[in-house]
Amino acid sequence: MKAYDFKKMWIDYFVSKGHKEIENAPLIPENDPSVLFTTAGMHPLVPYLLGNPHPAGRKLTNSQTCLRTNDIDSVGDASHLTCFEMLGRWSLGEYFKEEAIKTSYDFLVNYLKLDPKRISVTCFAGDQDSPRDEESASSWRGLGFNDDQIYFYGKEDNWWGLATGPCGPDSEIFYDMKPNEPKCGPNCGPACNCGKYMEIGNNVFMQYYKHEDGSYTPLKQRNVDTGFGLERIYCLLENYNNVYDTELFLPVLKVIKELSTNYIESSARMIADHTRSACLLIKDGVIPSNVGQGYVLRRMIRKCVRHLRKLGIAKEQYESIIKATIENGVATKLYPVLKEKEEIILTEILKETKKFMNTLGDGEKKFNQMARNLRNNNLTVLSGEDSFKLYDTYGFPIEMTQELAKENGLDVDIEAFHKRFEEHQAVSKKGSDQAFKGGLAETNEITTAYHTATHLLHKALKVVLGEHVHQAGSNITVERMRFDFPNPVKMTSEQLIEVERIVNEQIKKAIPVEKYEVTNEEADKMGAIGLFDSKYGNVVNVYKIGDFSIEKCGGPHVTNTQELGEFKIQKEEGIGAGMRRIKAILIKK
Ligand code: SER
Repeated sequence: MKAYDFKKMWIDYFVSKGHKEIENAPLIPENDPSVLFTTAGMHPLVPYLLGNPHPAGRKLTNSQTCLRTNDIDSVGDASHLTCFEMLGRWSLGEYFKEEAIKTSYDFLVNYLKLDPKRISVTCFAGDQDSPRDEESASSWRGLGFNDDQIYFYGKEDNWWGLATGPCGPDSEIFYDMKPNEPKCGPNCGPACNCGKYMEIGNNVFMQYYKHEDGSYTPLKQRNVDTGFGLERIYCLLENYNNVYDTELFLPVLKVIKELSTNYIESSARMIADHTRSACLLIKDGVIPSNVGQGYVLRRMIRKCVRHLRKLGIAKEQYESIIKATIENGVATKLYPVLKEKEEIILTEILKETKKFMNTLGDGEKKFNQMARNLRNNNLTVLSGEDSFKLYDTYGFPIEMTQELAKENGLDVDIEAFHKRFEEHQAVSKKGSDQAFKGGLAETNEITTAYHTATHLLHKALKVVLGEHVHQAGSNITVERMRFDFPNPVKMTSEQLIEVERIVNEQIKKAIPVEKYEVTNEEADKMGAIGLFDSKYGNVVNVYKIGDFSIEKCGGPHVTNTQELGEFKIQKEEGIGAGMRRIKAILIKK
């Protein structure tokens, strides 16, 4: 069976049970500037979990491409990936635990024919916020599960939610990957990392709201949020014991193996995973940079570059691995759109590769020298100063330095690095690494101003170049804004001057920026343009700047254009495939 057909099985199953299929949202959340990536299928559904009516109804299903960086260091083992497909289904205030557990079981055991003896499940053990989840346990028992297949854990394992918002106890489903081997010890169970238990799915019973102060209150409706791992279950169906042997990765791994002079399986898997994620991120408009999503992309590409070198693969040969990844996206039918974006994907990854290749060798030499010095002095911790030097001069993301240190039996003084890093970031309170660590995109007065300037630039480009201009990508740091858009030719200097003039004219007019929360249909009627049409229904934010610009957007924005200062275009350049890029700054008056 093809992975794509398995994906369809999931959706057909839940559609047959009265669920409506909803579309896959972009990897970059559309209406939520507080998080970097779509990390779960529930992400775009937050308003509906809170009680807003979803246009498609109260029972939904889909397959959502997700990106998670919390397990990034485990990538290369049998089951961890950065990007994965989450097979989802939701009950928005309809059915609850019993029905959710029954259908999860029915799908896995009766439909897919997985062995119920190899399945273990977990339930919430209970605490001051929520009682022990006997209800879920008894649903599992009712389906024939013995008590030794049901485990109870606390919040750290059996509770799911984002930093704030809808959340609740969950019931995870695990498959025994080593049925003929005993547990690795008396405490071994689904929460153990020994490799015996692989998580394949999760039912979250979202019935609480987590507030910023850490307290919980009941939601007005009780929801089910289910996520099953496509790659993991597919590998079970195909009788493999790891996701990399399936059609999802094998063709790419073959190319990597052929090119390697020193094949290391974990490095090859990591390259296959990270390259696929890089392609998917660029497809959704991300470009390597030092902040936010762009930093995660940069970090993944640079990690690939280092491991390519370990395998003895030259940078010129990386292109065929990227191409194989794109081809495989088409062949598996999971990501055919990668082909349309091939040119920009290749351009961006290879540009970043080239940039980093130039400093990687010297940086590694420098690191080895630092490591030697430490050893000679009987020390084991790399200082903040040294790790910052590797970051600043040689372009080593701090996580790469940590990886190198680990390989050499050393530690990194991470706090000292962050301190040094922050000293360096004179303008911004939150550095990009902090933003990455906390999963928070950087938002402050300066970036807010750049968000509004982006709307003005977008409209000014439409006025000067035509309606074909639309936002294909945008990236904002505290230092500048960047805007990517389609245009067949380079802009003339007259056009650039005109665009700049129009934007500054709107700034000088001191126009109030108005925000409307309306349905998507109303937003369209108002004539609002938008990077993504909201496919998930109803409420979208529309920002209106006088009669000049009206756009759907998550914000944040300034309240009046006069807060922007002077707008100045610094550069206009081609980024391949009929795409142009403008870099611009705001000069505070
Ligand atoms: N949101 C839950 C998870 O990510 C279930 O979909 O595990």
